[in-house]
Amino acid sequence: MILKAEKISKSYYTGDGALKVLKNVDLYIGRGEMVSVMGPSGCGKSTLLNILGTLDNPDSGQLWINNEEITLLSDEKLSFLRNNTIGFIFQFHHLLPEFTVIENLIIPQMIKGTSHEEATIRGLDLLSKVGLSDRKQHKPSQISGGERQRVAVLRALVNHPKIIFADEPTGNLDISSGEVVLDLMTELNKEYGVTYLIVTHNPEVAKRCDRHYDLTNGRLEIYEQK
Ligand SMILES: Nc1ncnc2c1ncn2[C@@H]1O[C@H](COP(=O)(O)OP(=O)(O)OP(=O)(O)O)[C@@H](O)[C@H]1O
Ligand SMILES: [Mg+2]
Repeated sequence: MILKAEKISKSYYTGDGALKVLKNVDLYIGRGEMVSVMGPSGCGKSTLLNILGTLDNPDSGQLWINNEEITLLSDEKLSFLRNNTIGFIFQFHHLLPEFTVIENLIIPQMIKGTSHEEATIRGLDLLSKVGLSDRKQHKPSQISGGERQRVAVLRALVNHPKIIFADEPTGNLDISSGEVVLDLMTELNKEYGVTYLIVTHNPEVAKRCDRHYDLTNGRLEIYEQK
């Protein structure tokens, strides 16, 4: 098992009082599985993904990733896990604006210790897979929204993560670019056994997944195709 989450709860507190977003959520994901989560806007999908991806803390509950219990890890070990085991595709891309497309793909690899040369080769290879080789010297502000999303997907996979958390990976893409991204994600799943937890409204994404959940009233329920 690559991810085990038990009794995860999260509330937000504002002037209007407490907003209970997640209520004792349990989730188990095996290595190499593709799992998707659907639910209406505001139901807590990004909140759940951020907590499971170790970017945010739950109020209560326990989380294990790759057999490590997250709350027990030192900052150093948690950074190592984030760099080596986890990939994140955000709902709104987080590319580094000052750097070019290819640099955005090289930098995370160098942080992990890969040589500049090897990182460049991998970055260029990935860019060619999504048809963006001729945008390598552009900055994120100089490419389209859909192109940025494709680069953000590549950036999540440069370091060969074991599990990728994806928040609407095809949200801003037209059908054909969406297919390119999905094909790439599925290829990595089949070839390297990369595990995915994907938040999506896109039925094409859900179709490629092994299991599918609805986030309803703060809980995950298995989605049954009717
Ligand atoms: N920092 C915060 N403080 C207070 N409330 C928040 C905070 N972040 C999110 N919320 C509220 O919590 C709820 C869940 O937010 P979340 O971003 O997880 O929703 P979502 O399911 O990802 O929605 P969408 O599909 O629109 O992206 C929303 O109603 C939101 O308004
Ligand atoms: Mg969201």
